[in-house]
Amino acid sequence: MAQSVEHAQSEPTLEIVLMSRTHVDEVLDIERESFANPWRRRDFEYALDRSNGFAIVAHQSALAVGYAIGFFVRGEFHLASLAVRRGLRQRGLGAALLSRVIEVARERGARVVTLEVRMSNASAISLYEKAGFSRIAIREDYYSHPPEDALVMMKTLRDNPWGP
Ligand SMILES: CC(C)(COP(=O)(O)OP(=O)(O)OC[C@H]1O[C@@H](n2cnc3c(N)ncnc32)[C@H](O)[C@@H]1OP(=O)(O)O)[C@@H](O)C(=O)NCCC(=O)NCCS
Repeated sequence: MAQSVEHAQSEPTLEIVLMSRTHVDEVLDIERESFANPWRRRDFEYALDRSNGFAIVAHQSALAVGYAIGFFVRGEFHLASLAVRRGLRQRGLGAALLSRVIEVARERGARVVTLEVRMSNASAISLYEKAGFSRIAIREDYYSHPPEDALVMMKTLRDNPWGP
């Protein structure tokens, strides 16, 4: 299945659905190939069980090709993780997932979307900046394995996000 996706002449249809427990095995594959310090199964299950959690999976030809997961906290949606299957990057899938996250955050009344990203993660920082995120702070020694500072980024979803 993965082979037919990678070698297809035209891109197969992209479907983005809410993540459920049935997706976690495939999501863990993507997670483990994407991060040095990956979330474990119980981290995803915990997030899926939270009433303020929101998670989506992108599918192409029945293969999970990427996911995004985060939490609504008052007027904020905090994007905790976003990744695309390694062999399928740089085809617009990350941008499509991020765009859906922003759309849903706006629909559900969030004022801002926030996230942390490793300072060295130029591809992700570029993805976020193209989607309208700004650099707002640095959290020193935020990451371990390997240790690194985090860049905090934010996208406002309203003209006056701190107003009534
Ligand atoms: C970051 C990530 C999600 C991007 O997904 P993707 O599907 O490759 O991204 P897209 O193809 O939609 O690219 C959108 C934009 O991201 C940026 N980008 C993506 N890959 C890039 C690369 N290798 N180098 C530089 N910029 C890159 C570009 O700005 C790109 O816009 P462009 O196509 O106009 O150049 C993907 O690289 C990934 O899963 N990385 C590992 C996990 C990770 O780091 N997640 C972010 C945690 S905060």
